[in-house]
Amino acid sequence: MKIVIPGGTGQVGTLLNRALTAAGHEVVVLSRRPVHPGEVPWDGKTLGPWAEALDGSDVVVNLAGRSVSCRYTADNLQAMMDSRVDSARVVGEAIAAAARPPRVWLQMSTATIYAHRFDAPNDEETGAVGGAEPGVPGYWAFSIDIAKAWEREQEKADTPGTRKVALRSAMVMSPDRGGVFDVLLWLTRLGLGGPVAGGAQYVSWIHDQDFVRAVEFLVDRDDIDGPVNLAAPAPVPQRMLMRSMRTAWGVPVGLPATRWMAELGAYALRTDTELLLKSRRVVPGRLLEAGFTFDHPHWPEAAADLVHRVRGRGPRARA
Ligand SMILES: NC(=O)c1ccc[n+]([C@@H]2O[C@H](COP(=O)([O-])OP(=O)(O)OC[C@H]3O[C@@H](n4cnc5c(N)ncnc54)[C@H](OP(=O)(O)O)[C@@H]3O)[C@@H](O)[C@H]2O)c1
Repeated sequence: MKIVIPGGTGQVGTLLNRALTAAGHEVVVLSRRPVHPGEVPWDGKTLGPWAEALDGSDVVVNLAGRSVSCRYTADNLQAMMDSRVDSARVVGEAIAAAARPPRVWLQMSTATIYAHRFDAPNDEETGAVGGAEPGVPGYWAFSIDIAKAWEREQEKADTPGTRKVALRSAMVMSPDRGGVFDVLLWLTRLGLGGPVAGGAQYVSWIHDQDFVRAVEFLVDRDDIDGPVNLAAPAPVPQRMLMRSMRTAWGVPVGLPATRWMAELGAYALRTDTELLLKSRRVVPGRLLEAGFTFDHPHWPEAAADLVHRVRGRGPRARA
């Protein structure tokens, strides 16, 4: 198949591109700063010659969006919103204008669309979309507004020949440098991989290989459209997530951090505590119902596998 990945130069795009290319597909990446063969220039907001890459393609997986790992300043939040809404809109316009539109458009969304909660898991049917939870910082609602606007842009695109799926993905855990798992492992190795603010908040996650398999599954399944949760069936409280990472790497201690210590750490790392403190208890209702099986459903085993692969990178690559 010919698969086009707008925003495919980042963490998720790189691992998806690698896996799909290895499986024999032709992958074209749209990037604002193309440097590698197979990358086509676009600006993420206006139609241009790049749209020809979509015409006659089989699949589009749009991953474009300003990184969410940043301080949630007004400017950054606006850039997070605009980059997602604009890129989803213009991808929809390119598909609508194509003489031979792709069969399916997988649009990245996020598991963050669901409410901060501890009591029960969120699946697509019964889950609570967030934004009105009591007792959480008001600005957390902005991430949910972004997710809703992002999905709305895909919903309203007039692309009758193209099936549309929104990927409500949890954190994609891969051994690649600079990804979420890499950062958590770095903290673990420093002895800082302990519970944060008690660690009861749930972390939803998906192993990179299951993420790729889920994408392939959704490409093949013509009967599935709309929002789909991409998350392992067993989200874990943050303290258990870190405990498994300590066990996997062989680190005896992980200092606990209070909320204000997390604030300081997040400030130093130029990121936001919402990523650490929000309880994302998200489960893959529709994938399981459709018969998808996870190769890595449980975190302790998934963490061990990822650590094994990080160790396989060799000491220079690990540094
Ligand atoms: N990583 C995860 O675990 C995870 C989980 C759930 C959802 N997501 C979402 O999935 C998408 C991909 O995640 P990722 O971790 O691969 O992100 P990433 O590493 O930040 O990559 C996103 C890509 O989007 C492009 N981009 C950045 N700012 C842009 C802008 N203003 N306009 C247009 N394109 C822009 C960049 O490509 P160029 O610079 O080459 O143009 C970048 O490589 C993101 O939207 C993210 O929010 C990620």
